[in-house]
Amino acid sequence: MGKGFFISKTLGIVGIVLAAGALSTIIALSVVYSQEKSKNNQNEVAGTTSVPTTKPSNEPWDKWRLPQTLSPQTYNVSLWPRLQPDPAGLYIFTGMSSVVFKCVHETDLILIHSNKLNMTKQPTLTALGSHPAPTIALIVMHTKTQYMAIHLKNKLTAGESYKLYTEFVGELADDLGGFYRSEYYENGVKKVVATTQMQATDARKAFPCFDEPAMKAVFHITLLHDPATIALSNGVMLDEVNDTVDGTFVTRTTFAPTEVMSTYLLAFIVSDFGFIEQNIGKLQIRIFARQEAIKAGQGQYALNVTGPILKFFEKYYNVSYPPPKSDQIALPDFSAGAMENWGLIAYRETALLYDEEISSTGNKERIVIVIAHELAHQWFGNLVTLRWWNDLWLNEGFASYVEYLGAHEAEPDWNIKDLIVLNDVHRVFAIDALASSHPLSSKEEEIQTPGQISEVFDSISYSKGASVLRMLSDFLTETVFTQGLQTYLDHFKFNNTVYTDLWEHLQKAVDNTGTRLPKTVQEIMDRWVLQMGFPVVTINTATGEITQEHFLLDPESKPNRPSEFNYEWFVPISWKKKEAEQPLHWLLQKTEQSNDMKISGDEWILANINVTGYYRVNYDTENWQRLLNVLQTSRESIPVINRAQLIDDAFNLAKAGMIETTLALNTTVFLASETEYMPWESALDNLYYFYLMFDRTEVYGPMQTYVGKQVKNLFDHFTSLTNWVDVPPGHTDQYNQVNALRVACSTGLENCTTLVKTWFKQWMDNPTVNPIKANLRSAVYCSAIAAGGEQEWDFAWQQFENATVASEKDKLRAAMTCATEPWLLNRYLKYTLDPSKIRKQDATSTIISIASNVVGQSLAWNFVRANWEYIFNQYGGGLFSFSGLINGVTKRFSTPFELQQLRQFRDDYAHIGFGSGTLAIQQSIERTQANIKWVEKNQQAVLDWFNNNNNNQL
Ligand SMILES: *[C@@H]1O[C@H](CO)[C@@H](O)[C@H](O)[C@H]1NC(C)=O
Ligand SMILES: *[C@@H]1O[C@H](CO)[C@@H](O)[C@H](O)[C@H]1NC(C)=O
Ligand SMILES: *[C@@H]1O[C@H](CO)[C@@H](O)[C@H](O)[C@H]1NC(C)=O
Ligand SMILES: *[C@@H]1O[C@H](CO)[C@@H](O)[C@H](O)[C@H]1NC(C)=O
Ligand SMILES: [Zn+2]
Repeated sequence: MGKGFFISKTLGIVGIVLAAGALSTIIALSVVYSQEKSKNNQNEVAGTTSVPTTKPSNEPWDKWRLPQTLSPQTYNVSLWPRLQPDPAGLYIFTGMSSVVFKCVHETDLILIHSNKLNMTKQPTLTALGSHPAPTIALIVMHTKTQYMAIHLKNKLTAGESYKLYTEFVGELADDLGGFYRSEYYENGVKKVVATTQMQATDARKAFPCFDEPAMKAVFHITLLHDPATIALSNGVMLDEVNDTVDGTFVTRTTFAPTEVMSTYLLAFIVSDFGFIEQNIGKLQIRIFARQEAIKAGQGQYALNVTGPILKFFEKYYNVSYPPPKSDQIALPDFSAGAMENWGLIAYRETALLYDEEISSTGNKERIVIVIAHELAHQWFGNLVTLRWWNDLWLNEGFASYVEYLGAHEAEPDWNIKDLIVLNDVHRVFAIDALASSHPLSSKEEEIQTPGQISEVFDSISYSKGASVLRMLSDFLTETVFTQGLQTYLDHFKFNNTVYTDLWEHLQKAVDNTGTRLPKTVQEIMDRWVLQMGFPVVTINTATGEITQEHFLLDPESKPNRPSEFNYEWFVPISWKKKEAEQPLHWLLQKTEQSNDMKISGDEWILANINVTGYYRVNYDTENWQRLLNVLQTSRESIPVINRAQLIDDAFNLAKAGMIETTLALNTTVFLASETEYMPWESALDNLYYFYLMFDRTEVYGPMQTYVGKQVKNLFDHFTSLTNWVDVPPGHTDQYNQVNALRVACSTGLENCTTLVKTWFKQWMDNPTVNPIKANLRSAVYCSAIAAGGEQEWDFAWQQFENATVASEKDKLRAAMTCATEPWLLNRYLKYTLDPSKIRKQDATSTIISIASNVVGQSLAWNFVRANWEYIFNQYGGGLFSFSGLINGVTKRFSTPFELQQLRQFRDDYAHIGFGSGTLAIQQSIERTQANIKWVEKNQQAVLDWFNNNNNNQL
């Protein structure tokens, strides 16, 4: 899946999919009906991960994993979604499916996944071999484990094949999971799209299937639909005929059989969308979206970049693009960022559609990154698939790494590969430094229920996975890395793997090329994969001693699990002595002595060049001072990524109590003359924590003065470069221009606030012409709405409702959370639970964004608590990220009173549960405790530092 939690700067964390809701009935079809004991009456919630509520049962239908008795070969699935509600107001789909499976071990039980489907006919079983098929004795629907259990009077014969035929009806709900519906208005007319999101466990909501990633098969798909609509699926269209079925005139579209593939990669879509296309050699590339969006040219950018990215990956993997066509489609309602369905990739609109006038550079970057991510999966993930969800990190981490390589191919001038450091490495460091983090790899038996499977789609899997693979590719060299990757893909195509299969192929490449490594690939990687967290490497340049220790943000916390490697790693240390790059140093012990790293005079040492390693670096105070000095006097001798790193490491080391907080603040002093984006962004990310902790205290004023003073030069730089009319030429310069405006305005720089107010007023005076430059809109809207009142807010709401470009809608939606009048924010909070105002897919991120506003913080927290039961029940099914929500609304918590409230919340709603937010509650408590300690310890020193700094300079 694409980054569900991709962070657009203003919106905070957007959700991870949560598994489907509560359940308890049995539906039996057969003559004999057997009540399934008392356990079905329990009110159990899927998505909670621990607490077994029933006694362990040994019955196969009470286990979450399929028995290895049957192996599916081919499916023939025909589905008919109704885009008009039935007389009872229900949107439904009907279907027929037959699956041919081979019996591997004899059994008298067919267990097949089926969730929320009502059988409309008695299923039938036919034998394809010489033995007759046994008679069906009984059929039981197990709603908790989501199986249809077909009990047979006799056994199936090993080695023989059988065909199971079913007819069924399901609801085409607006729940963003399985076969679901998305709605939108075009020219005042309501339109309905039938679409799918199968990953991870919702193919079983569309038709009965063996819904595990290793149960690969060939799928023959047919869709019935209104002749005025088009049908899409993974395969190319084979045939289209008109027919009358049950008195309705329909088109029957048949698709070519798919490759051998997993169920979670299937897609079925019926819409009246438009498309644009391009052929690259024999390959047809199409972009689908709402007709209005296609007419406006919003698909063009995606079409432009897809070809080059596909070609790049063909080369990178040395395997030609597997499916015969590449369709990509933008959906108005979509829970994740995107989904890599084989040959038919689905996206949120903001991840695919680009409007040259209206969208920003950030929107554009997101599109090219997400497209590259999904295209990367077409091989890694789709052609070769991990056997089970416990190895998801390899699939998602890999795509999250190579997405930068693919995007670089499409936009070679952007230096986009550098940005992985800010967007993934730094971001996940913050989470992986908690004692409650978890290792990349989980045991297969720990990941069983749909809820547990949803939980592995987290930033550890995506961003840590990406960071660690980038490190691996770097120390192996890209040549060796791709060589191993290519033989791995070739060997396992159309098959399944465990992550160590990749290590084996990389090892072969290491051996073949004679690459020198201090340990085997597996030995090195085990330490990064099997234990959570990462090391901080401390280099004492006075003695040449290098040591590593597990980096924990709260120095008093203890990791919540033991490690067989004692929290030690094999660390590849790239480093520079002054200007000179040095040979890679492998730190293989807890402590080592390196005379090379012992220095004197005006020398200095910098380690982890370009942050290719997944670790932090600390130095003796003297070397820190020398580095600070270089930053002040000749910062160009430190690579720009490391300028960002020094800030990020210093702030986090200070948080962990390893260096003084004032030293961290000192790393921001050079920014007064810095114009590069990465160091600025790193500083602003870190100062954001200071804002969260102090924006309700006396520190706030002096901090604003300091930040305002630092940004002044940057603001002037962009004023003279662009006069706020031109677009800066460099990609990241465009981002830093936004930073300059945002920070200057939020610290009250008058030139800035005047500018912003004027623009917004011009727009309000003439709403049909928006004079604000696309890149600056988020910052300008937010600033103007913060400074304004009801009139500005209502104007923004009007524009939000009228906007036809999804990214523009998102900017307005985020900006409206910047309001400073509590009643406006409270009203907005209410809107988030009304899907006719705020789409369900956007509810969490809007609430979190309101909580990020210092005025909205307590309002959002009260709102979430007051409505927990409603949120949990109404929004719990398939789309709502409880973990993002809980982390988001509590991130400012830093007082004992808030800690008390958080615990109270945990206890008050224990009976309802927290779904995918169970772990988040614990993390929030841990974070609040750490914040309380940090504020107590640092507030005075920070206040003094800002005061001194504000007085000293000039
Ligand atoms: C399936 O059956 C249940 C129970 O009879 C019913 O409530 C539900 O509406 C049915 N679903 C569909 C799509 O017909
Ligand atoms: C099916 O019917 C529609 C509407 O009458 C028509 O436009 C279309 O050409 C027909 N398709 C085929 C394959 O006959
Ligand atoms: C797509 O490519 C064409 C041809 O190179 C170019 O003219 C156009 O501006 C591009 N469109 C976008 C949105 O990048
Ligand atoms: C898939 O891989 C396994 C071993 O990992 C092998 O036994 C099996 O034959 C392979 N299947 C196919 C279809 O290649
Ligand atoms: Zn993905």
